[in-house]
Amino acid sequence: MKTLIPSEITPVQLQTVMQTAVSPRPIALASTVDKDGNSNLSPFSFFNMFSTVPPVLIFSPSRRVRDNTIKHTLENVLEVPEVVIGTVNFPIVQQISLASTEYEEGVNEFIKSGLTMKDADLVQPKLIEECPVNFECKVLEVKSLGDQGGAGNLVICEVQKIHIREEYLDENGNLDQAKLDMVARLGSNWYSRNTADNLFEVPKPLVTKGIGFDLLPDEIKFSRIFTGNDLGMLANVEILPAGNYHSDENVHLGAQKLLLESKIEEAWKILIY
Ligand SMILES: Cc1cc2nc3c(=O)[nH]c(=O)nc-3n(C[C@H](O)[C@H](O)[C@H](O)COP(=O)(O)O)c2cc1C
Repeated sequence: MKTLIPSEITPVQLQTVMQTAVSPRPIALASTVDKDGNSNLSPFSFFNMFSTVPPVLIFSPSRRVRDNTIKHTLENVLEVPEVVIGTVNFPIVQQISLASTEYEEGVNEFIKSGLTMKDADLVQPKLIEECPVNFECKVLEVKSLGDQGGAGNLVICEVQKIHIREEYLDENGNLDQAKLDMVARLGSNWYSRNTADNLFEVPKPLVTKGIGFDLLPDEIKFSRIFTGNDLGMLANVEILPAGNYHSDENVHLGAQKLLLESKIEEAWKILIY
């Protein structure tokens, strides 16, 4: 096992290992204004939701590792504590990357990136028309995490209004994960994409109370065939199916095929005699 102590590696090395390890990260496209009303648009992948009621999003414009300067987005939310956060999907990924260019103060990245400004209803910053979802937010607090290059600044935002583009809704009027084609940020220059064909479902164990790994029969738990994912599915049944358990690896391979298709009950059936 390789181990690292943060204080013993350079900030750039630390940034690389953390951003590669903590991935994929969703991307916030933050639209802000300065005190004179000039618009700014920048992407941030130090971003997530942290509360549903109240609805809270947090993103973090960091102090630059390079020269410890701060970003216009941070200056703006300190001047005008409002932000529109747009979510980012594949059709706009190149434009949001362009919006991350470090233009001089006062340059409007909407214009540079070709993304479209639209008036918001409750806050001054503009909506981003092309984003699948826009959140109009008030900034509750800006929490600085340090004064050195690389230090984050948590911009804690409460959502006031949500705008969703119709084309991403399903027939019941709900957001359709498969249609969204979300992208996420990984380490270095890598991104990942969530197309319909690479989504998969894992049934929530909250609905059932799985027996757990510890109650799996040894013939199955110590099989050389089953992976952690296979055993995780087998251990998610509520009652251990009764019988004798095959230790034959060919039978395990057959069960594994069924598990790949999420057919847990059928997998258990062939594991018992
Ligand atoms: C996809 C993506 C995600 C980014 N995430 C962050 C981030 O979480 N925090 C950060 O400080 N900079 C991040 N950046 C870099 C900023 O977008 C960049 O520094 C931007 O120019 C800041 O603009 P501003 O000075 O107008 O606020 C990211 C860039 C890209 C392309």
